[in-house]
Amino acid sequence: VDHLLGIKYLNEDDIQLIFETADHFKEVINRSIKKVPSLRDITIANIFFENSTRTKLSFELAEKRLSADIVNFSAGQSSVKKGETLVDTVNNILSMKVDMVVMRHPNPGAGIFLAKHVNAAIINAGDGAHEHPTQALLDSFSIRERLGDVAGKKVLIVGDILHSRVALSNIYALKLQGAEVKVCGPKTLIPKYIGDLGVSVETDFQKALAWCDVANMLRVQNERMDISYFPSTREYAMQYGLTMERLNQLDKEIVVMHPGPINRGVEVTSAVADSSHSIILDQVENGVAVRMAVIYLLASKIKSI
Ligand code: CP
Repeated sequence: VDHLLGIKYLNEDDIQLIFETADHFKEVINRSIKKVPSLRDITIANIFFENSTRTKLSFELAEKRLSADIVNFSAGQSSVKKGETLVDTVNNILSMKVDMVVMRHPNPGAGIFLAKHVNAAIINAGDGAHEHPTQALLDSFSIRERLGDVAGKKVLIVGDILHSRVALSNIYALKLQGAEVKVCGPKTLIPKYIGDLGVSVETDFQKALAWCDVANMLRVQNERMDISYFPSTREYAMQYGLTMERLNQLDKEIVVMHPGPINRGVEVTSAVADSSHSIILDQVENGVAVRMAVIYLLASKIKSI
C-alpha cells in the first residue's frame, strides 16, 4: 500500500505531480459546483490524537469535494481513553471497510509505525515534532502561486525550528525543488543537525529578512518544550517578531507565510498578518486543493478511479 508519511519519502516528480493535480482541483473548487465524483467508492477515516483546526477541516473538505465517504475520530471522545492501543483502534476502524487513514498524532514516527501494522493507506497529518507533509506541500504550492516557481527562491524559516514538523517537512520539500533555505531563531531552538539538511543559519533577524524572498514565520511550540528553552514570549517577539517597521526597512517586497495558528503580536504583528505581504489565508485555501490531490493520487493506487 502507498502512503504519504513524510516529504522525506518523495522525489521532485512526486511533488510536481501533486501540484499539477492540485491546480486542476483548485480550478474545480473555484467553479460554482465544487464537487467531483472521483472517490465515490472510497471511505476515509480522519483520526486526530492532537488538536487541529486547519488540517482537520481541510482534509474533511477535500474528502467531501472528492465525494468520498468519511468518518471522523477524535481521541479525546474515544475508547483510547479506556486504554485501547493505536493499532487496535485503527484495525477496528478498518474492519468497517475503511480504505484510507488520515492521522495526526503527538508521537514522531506514529504514521510510520502504523503503516507497518495495518492494511490501509496512511496520510500523516502531523506526527509530533517530526513531519507535516501536506503543510509543506501547500506551503510550496502557495509560493509557486505567488512567485511563479519555487526553484531558486530564497526561503527563510523563522522561529522554533527544533520542535517544528512544519520546518522539517518544508526544508525537505524546498530543497527537493531547488530553493535556498535559511533558518533564523534563538540558538536554543535551532537543532544541531540543521547543517546536515543543507540549510544555513542566520541569527540576525534583520539580515536574514534582507536575504530572503519569502519568510515563513513559525509558531513557538510551547506545548512541545520545557519552559526553560527560551526566556520569554516578550523577548522572543522583540527579537524575532515580524513587524511592519522591519518590513519597511527592506529595499524589496517579501512574501510572509505562517502555517497557523498565529500568536498575533509574537511571531507576526496583526498589521503584517493582515497586509498584502501575507499569503497566510492563501495557504489555508490551497490546503484543500493540495489535500484533494494527495488523496486522489493515493486512492488511484488502491482502486481504479
Ligand atoms: N497548520 C496546521 O497544522 O494547523 P492546525 O494545527 O490547526 O491543523
